[in-house]
Amino acid sequence: MANIFPHKHLLSASQLSKSDIHIITTRAQEFLNSGISTTPKYDFLRGKTVVSAFFEGSTRTKLSFELAARRIGADVLSFTASASSLSKGESLIDTLNTIDAMGVDMWVVRHSFSGAVDFMSGFSDCSFLNAGDGQHQHPTQGLLDILTMQQHFGDLTGKNICIVGDILHSRVARSTAILLKTLGANVGLLAPGTLFPHDVSNWKVSQFRKIDDAVEWADALNILRIQRERMASGLLPSLEEFSNFFGVKMKHLLRKPDLLIMHPGPVNYGVEIDHDVARAVQSVIQKQVTNGVAVRMAVMALLAENIERI
Ligand code: CP
Repeated sequence: MANIFPHKHLLSASQLSKSDIHIITTRAQEFLNSGISTTPKYDFLRGKTVVSAFFEGSTRTKLSFELAARRIGADVLSFTASASSLSKGESLIDTLNTIDAMGVDMWVVRHSFSGAVDFMSGFSDCSFLNAGDGQHQHPTQGLLDILTMQQHFGDLTGKNICIVGDILHSRVARSTAILLKTLGANVGLLAPGTLFPHDVSNWKVSQFRKIDDAVEWADALNILRIQRERMASGLLPSLEEFSNFFGVKMKHLLRKPDLLIMHPGPVNYGVEIDHDVARAVQSVIQKQVTNGVAVRMAVMALLAENIERI
């Protein structure tokens, strides 16, 4: 496989080849193997400044990007939209230009509008990392999901991975499904009809309407949060009804004890996943969080090396 990472930005999982994914997950695993929480820090981003700009809420992605940037030597500028001059009417592009003028090198951006990060990258010379844009993409979440599955299964070719829940609103589903297919895994989706994406026929995946069928088929379940904040009325009769028919419960794990349980967080316990399932030995939810720091270190280090090469 080629050992060059040919990208200035990471905007979408669809830009990554099999070789790119291999380079990222290999580098992330090397960081994990060498103990990412110990000193001395790496210096891939020494002398560089990373802007962490979250226009929408986040715990895992924001903090792990900032930790990852510091662990590879960057200075980090943390921008919080609600405490900024956006509230005085300053535009997104004026905000970008203002922070760029301070002398920064890399932007990590989350925004509630699909396409916002791609749009911003057209107004700057910096590298851009998409930390989640609307319902579109969340590529580093997809990559950390892949690393977590590879740690458990090894090669993902031919593995059956079912994404469960609110697929319609999920940028995680869109990123993870693309990466899994690039790596030769089989992707399944389990959701009520109203929460399937409208273009699902283009996804070329298996579709399930009954949780028992999905559990029988799958090697792993990647369970998604019901995104109440993006939900139009009428998509679900009730959360209780969703939980009864699509929620993952201990009875499913008892039926299939080697089923891997994943969730990108944040979790709605008792809706898409029961508390005891999230805490079961088959669950790698906390490992996903740990892997997120290593994957983000890897992506930022590779982008920085690539910028130096160009
Ligand atoms: N998985 C994820 O993106 O979580 P946050 O919204 O907390 O960043």
